Amino acid sequence: MSKVLSAVAWPYANGPRHIGHVAGFGVPSDVFSRYMRMAGHDVLMVSGTDEHGTPILIAADEAGVPPQELADRNHRLIAEDLVALGCSYDLYTRTTTRNHHAVVQAMFTGVFENGYFLEQTTYGAVSPSTGRTLPDRYIEGTCPICGYDGARGDQCDNCGNQLDPQDLKDPRSRINGETPEFVETQHFFLDLPALAEALGEWLDEREATGTWRPNVIKFSQNILKEIRPRAMTRDIDWGISVPLEGWRDNPTKKLYVWFDAVIGYLSASIEWARRSGDPEAWRQWWNDPQALSYYFMGKDNITFHSQIWPAELLAYNGSGSNGGSTHELGTLNLPSEVVSSEFLTMEGRKFSSSKKVVIYVRDLLERYQPDAFRYFVAAAGPESQDADFTWAEFVQRTNSELVAGWGNLVNRTATLVAKNFGELPAAGTLTADDEAVLASTEAAFGTVGELIGRNRMRQAINEAMRAVADVNKYVSDSEPWKIKDDPERLGTVLHVTAQCVSDLNTVLSPFLPFSANAVDRVLGGPGDVQPMPRIEEADDLDGGPGYPIITGDYSAPRAWRRTPIVVGTVVAKPVPVFTKLDPTVVEEELARLSG
Ligand code: MF3
Ligand code: ZN
Repeated sequence: MSKVLSAVAWPYANGPRHIGHVAGFGVPSDVFSRYMRMAGHDVLMVSGTDEHGTPILIAADEAGVPPQELADRNHRLIAEDLVALGCSYDLYTRTTTRNHHAVVQAMFTGVFENGYFLEQTTYGAVSPSTGRTLPDRYIEGTCPICGYDGARGDQCDNCGNQLDPQDLKDPRSRINGETPEFVETQHFFLDLPALAEALGEWLDEREATGTWRPNVIKFSQNILKEIRPRAMTRDIDWGISVPLEGWRDNPTKKLYVWFDAVIGYLSASIEWARRSGDPEAWRQWWNDPQALSYYFMGKDNITFHSQIWPAELLAYNGSGSNGGSTHELGTLNLPSEVVSSEFLTMEGRKFSSSKKVVIYVRDLLERYQPDAFRYFVAAAGPESQDADFTWAEFVQRTNSELVAGWGNLVNRTATLVAKNFGELPAAGTLTADDEAVLASTEAAFGTVGELIGRNRMRQAINEAMRAVADVNKYVSDSEPWKIKDDPERLGTVLHVTAQCVSDLNTVLSPFLPFSANAVDRVLGGPGDVQPMPRIEEADDLDGGPGYPIITGDYSAPRAWRRTPIVVGTVVAKPVPVFTKLDPTVVEEELARLSG
């Protein structure tokens, strides 16, 4: 049993999330966390809304509201969507809390005192027509490294390299197309070259574990070759202040998202501990070198998590070539694994809120079951290569795999038990076939568990569904509906089937937590296989305004092993757990998209 930190990427507060976002970080992290808890690990799953920086400022400008108001609105919406999806955060918070500000500033101070910040004069982009600072990501041009024409001032989405806006060839403002002016400005740069060797050693050690997805480890090692100091401050008035004389009160210099949201994993762990009544409890996940940490995100966030964040941790720990000492937060653990997804497209196109190529989480969940979506993401999502969401495939997988495969097995089992016995019957002598099917579902705990533990979700759910097919075949072969005058044999077949359904329900429950509870009730159980998250209206711990958080008590999920069914448990005629989708859904949804 280990301490396991499940660190989930922080969604931007610039609008509601679409299904491409949650396919990348949401579903995979929740499947993993639920499984690890069932396997007996002590999981701390944290995240929150990323509320500072230019994306939020621009969205607030467009909406004509102050950034805090926009962030308040979207934080609540995003939290509600994540709960509706069943994401079992121990704490889902936000970056505008006083706790987060204080932790970020403590990190800054440690890194600064250890000598990993370089104060440098650089050039900042200014709009000639308005005189306002132009945020990096609102400058577009040609990538100096790969020649891609649509590179942004902070990053090239084609080759993945981090950029500075003045590197771009033919820079232009994405707001109004004008050519920006570059003026001198002072910033703090993280001395990444002084951390490169330590980063390289860490990555080599991680590679040796053999568990990282090959594309992620390769990408991370590659970007190490291009390493150079990176500005951690920006000319912007919405964010966390630099805790230094002469900077603290400067309204136009704030910390950049690279030194803000990523630190959220730590600040949220501390906030969780403070709320739990044991304010030091977070240290078990962060200071104990035995603890494990898994970071979940989409691939545009790999640099963040496999270079910038570990570099900040090494700098804070004093573990780079500039040396340094330990500070109040202690020696902090680097990520055990960066679990990155690739991208989800939709009907063959890139998601784009502005072009209306988008399905918001909320809209999908208003019309379809959360588990149908979770199933699609686990079985066909962008785990290690880009994947396409189509309504046709969504309907097809829901109907032929969830409804006709798993749902039908549950339904016919409960129907036969209810009709013939009204309660779970005892088993008599087992035949070789009975033994074989029981062995198959019991073995699924081993195979599926091992795969989820390594974040191979597609393979894991395939294995689970293969076991479902085995049990369906067992029922068809045993033909319980034809057993007329042998109640003992009928009881045995239905007992064995019910045990297999119960096993598979446990195995599928990290993927399908809502239906796992429903299936448990169908079999006469209390429906407590998977604990569910809730929204709570929380006070700010340090006197700031209150805000909604996601939390929950996940301490007692069903254990990851066979739970013997209880003979005599009353089973009533079931109502189907999964909703079959009418094929007209496809046209309806496609019309909605183009309309
Ligand atoms: N909000 C940012 C993004 O979506 C960063 C998310 S991950 C974080 O790209 F750890 F940096 F917060
Ligand atoms: Zn490029």
